[in-house]
Amino acid sequence: ATIVPVLDFCVADPNGQALVHGMACKDPKLVTPEDFFFSGAHKPGNTSNPMGSKVTTFNVAQIPGLNTFGLSMARVDYCPGGLNAPHTHPRASEMFTVLEGTIEVGFITPNPELRHFKKVLKKGDVFVFPFGLVHYQKNVGNGKAAALVAFNSENAGMIPLGGSVLHAQPNMSEDIVARVLKI
Ligand code: GLV
Ligand code: MN
Repeated sequence: ATIVPVLDFCVADPNGQALVHGMACKDPKLVTPEDFFFSGAHKPGNTSNPMGSKVTTFNVAQIPGLNTFGLSMARVDYCPGGLNAPHTHPRASEMFTVLEGTIEVGFITPNPELRHFKKVLKKGDVFVFPFGLVHYQKNVGNGKAAALVAFNSENAGMIPLGGSVLHAQPNMSEDIVARVLKI
């Protein structure tokens, strides 16, 4: 379904009182071209971390002009073997385009089927991760890999599957973590 906007734009004002459909609108007289701009989508993110991957978002936090548009993007970089670990987006579907390299992608349907859809993608291939479902990517090629992704939310959010249990603040009890991870 498409919702027809009632304003040309509602550039996010982080200091204003947020509304249920997004952030407050900045005074249109104060809006500038910079509010609709992001630079650096060509720059590889730093993958020197345990997972060997890095997501660089360009959503409403970086581009205030995206507020209320239901749209954003990100760049993902992977070193050889790099993994973007299983996660979900609570507010978006995701469209994934390979810029470089060979990437295994997959998603899993909800209980009780837990069907695992997976595929190996190469440069130029596009894959869709359905709304809210757990998904992941792994660089299975010999070199670096990179992807450009689109979300139908200016603020898709990200829930790391293992991370949310392991790194909850305050921590979950060890018993709960151990039983989830079956150690
Ligand atoms: C990839 O799945 C991403 O959310 O960046
Ligand atoms: Mn994702």
